Amino acid sequence: MKLPAGIDPKHLPKHVAIVMDGNGRWAKERSLPRTDGHRAGEEAVARAVDGALALGIANLTLYAFSTENWRRPKTEVRFLLNDTERFVRMRRDEFHAKGVRMRWIGRREARVPKRIQAQIDESVAMTKNNRRLTLTVAFNYGGRAEIADAARRIAEEVQRGDLDPKRITERTINARLYDPDLPDVDLFLRTSGEVRTSNFLLWESAYAEMVFLPVLWPDFTAGHLNDAVREYQKRGRRFGAV
Ligand code: IPE
Ligand code: IPE
Ligand code: MG
Repeated sequence: MKLPAGIDPKHLPKHVAIVMDGNGRWAKERSLPRTDGHRAGEEAVARAVDGALALGIANLTLYAFSTENWRRPKTEVRFLLNDTERFVRMRRDEFHAKGVRMRWIGRREARVPKRIQAQIDESVAMTKNNRRLTLTVAFNYGGRAEIADAARRIAEEVQRGDLDPKRITERTINARLYDPDLPDVDLFLRTSGEVRTSNFLLWESAYAEMVFLPVLWPDFTAGHLNDAVREYQKRGRRFGAV
């Protein structure tokens, strides 16, 4: 399969993580309600998945709802919750047919409606044997919450006598993240021009290459993903060495 011009198939990022930002501003520019921006953003999700499949990227992780997003107006929160559930229900057969394995990371807690949790479990179970692309949806996810949750699990194991504190290493923490199989992020991408992580994949992005694009999320296309990968391939990754 031919890759887009200027992309080296031997140096693809194994894990691309995207902060899908700018739905509200996209809607505002059109004098539409913010929720219309979120709807328009769904199409961009489908384009990002197709773009990742076309490039042969193994892992794509999307920030859908943060632990901080509960601070938004109730109506917007409700819309985002319902819409995520609806989007997955509408698209999972298509993703499944395309060889996408779906995974979820985030805090499972009472305020995440049961209906959504059921949808999460069903889509993960249905697609678990797919191998082309692992699509991880970060929902009610926060990087600090993830590390705090891992710390709590470690403390419980120590308290039970199952873990010796002297043996705690970075691996111990890695193994207790929401999805221990998720590799480190190679390319961390954010749309909308904001230059911050907003608490996304803090542990996993310790050595990620960061790319910030001025495009608003509903306008995102596979072409933008290709641009970001080209930019990634220009970077010299040293991981502390020389
Ligand atoms: C990203 O778009 C979607 C979510 C955070 C769920 P925003 O809603 O943050 O859009 P802006 O940043 O207000 O433009
Ligand atoms: C980050 O975007 C969260 C998601 C994309 C789900 P936000 O729009 O919530 O982040 P801030 O408020 O600009 O930091
Ligand atoms: Mg935003």
